[in-house]
Amino acid sequence: MEFSAKFINKLKYTKRLVFFTGAGISAESGISTFRGLDGIWNKMKPEELASIDGFMKNPDLVWQWYQHRRQIVQDSKPNAGHIAIAELDNYYDVTVVTQNVDNLHRRAGSSKVFELHGNIERNFCIDCKFPFSETELNLESGNPKCKNCGGRIRPDVVWFGEMLPQDQFSGGQSVAESSDICFIVGTSGLVYPAAYIPIEAKQAGAFLVEINIENTEMSCFADESFIGKSASILTEILTEVKKIKTNS
Ligand code: OAD
Repeated sequence: MEFSAKFINKLKYTKRLVFFTGAGISAESGISTFRGLDGIWNKMKPEELASIDGFMKNPDLVWQWYQHRRQIVQDSKPNAGHIAIAELDNYYDVTVVTQNVDNLHRRAGSSKVFELHGNIERNFCIDCKFPFSETELNLESGNPKCKNCGGRIRPDVVWFGEMLPQDQFSGGQSVAESSDICFIVGTSGLVYPAAYIPIEAKQAGAFLVEINIENTEMSCFADESFIGKSASILTEILTEVKKIKTNS
């Protein structure tokens, strides 16, 4: 890919990068996105599987579905896109603000990660809020119960109609607002309040770069749009950065 002089100049003279990521960055790791033809919400009902009402109606079904998704995540590996972002940490102050719950950015080596929609590897009791890792749970008989109070245990992910974790959202907002370049990678940009973050970054003066296989709701805000798969585009950006840094 031929990068514009404007973009290369930005890469030369900036310090702080933010990567605002969505399901598309993990697509090449074999994890389905939510929307589009093969999207999860095209086949499953979010109100049944990703809402507190759905969980209270059928906790075993919801738990089973999350166990299935957890297995997919555990069997998958960070791809070249996650790895390129982690490597960019050697050249810039990099923060990831992700809507993904799959933990792949951390597994790739990124150290500063805000998780706007939670993390599928964690769980907590809906009554006493006590946290549980998967290894502490008895998974044999459907939805497990809290050993302290007997409450139902749920995955620590944000469901429809729920608030985002305040520390993650405000942390993500403030790094994005102080970033020099904010990359929007593999997200439809349709889910708020998360999608406010790149818009706020732009309003605060960040250069906005979108990486996606197609145009999205975010494209009209972008200063640069790279159409293609994130693993290869991010790898090419990393190669460009290495050239810039060895020549300067
Ligand atoms: P979506 O499924 O809405 O969008 C995925 C985006 O990734 C689309 O714009 C695709 O074009 C793009 N895409 C797919 N493959 C790609 C690739 N290889 N490289 C680059 N881009 C690619 O997923 P999100 O935007 O993440 O919320 O969805 C936002 C939220 O909606 C999720 O966090 C989830 C969901 O309901 C909660 O669970 C709270």
